[in-house]
Amino acid sequence: MIGENSMNIQSGSMKPIKLIGIRACVFDAYGTLFDVSSVARGAQAEIGEQWQSLSDLWRSKQLQYTWLRGLSGQYADFWQVTGDALDYAMLSLRLEDRELREKLMRLYLRLSAYPEVPEVLQDLKDGGMPLAILSNGTPNMLKSVASNSGIIDLFDEILSADEIKTYKPHPSVYQLASNRLHVESENICFISSNAWDAYSAKAFGFQVLWCNRFKQAPENIPASPNAEINDLFCLPNVILTR
Ligand code: LAC
Repeated sequence: MIGENSMNIQSGSMKPIKLIGIRACVFDAYGTLFDVSSVARGAQAEIGEQWQSLSDLWRSKQLQYTWLRGLSGQYADFWQVTGDALDYAMLSLRLEDRELREKLMRLYLRLSAYPEVPEVLQDLKDGGMPLAILSNGTPNMLKSVASNSGIIDLFDEILSADEIKTYKPHPSVYQLASNRLHVESENICFISSNAWDAYSAKAFGFQVLWCNRFKQAPENIPASPNAEINDLFCLPNVILTR
């Protein structure tokens, strides 16, 4: 059911959210389906009390590097960017340790899905909705996490920005979903917990749900998502084919 705090951003109301004319659901991966902090949490014993700082800095550097590489035209795949960002974070926090680095990178391939994810995806699939992932992750990284969480068979497509050789929020990455699913952008519901991704996907032309898991403030970039939700539980009630 729709959480009481779900918000229709565009009208500013708390009325029940309904997205109509949806022919496919496309999910961001990291932070939306998969919990990136589960990596550092899983190595708390080795990292010590700085595990949360390491996790936050790692993630924020990883995203910055995708944007910087995208803007400067210096593409490297998400596995390299993730490793480069981890090296920066470990050096900054004086946590350099070769074995720990290898362990964290291995764990990144086995991230946990958020608890509601398998059930919600299964419900949508049972209702006949085509499902896809559209992520900056490499095909190998995405297949690995989806398979480890037991949800890989629920997806019709696992789409990687690596195919385009640049990163979200470049419109060509969002276009990939429309092209490969053969669904017009306005008939795609895109779901992301990353506010910048949700806003940019809306600016591209998708209908968008911002899953604001981390209670972040709204962004001041184009364009506001259709609605803000707290987790994915409400999806089967919100996403309508007509
Ligand atoms: C992704 C990152 C941005 O999965 O969360 O593309």
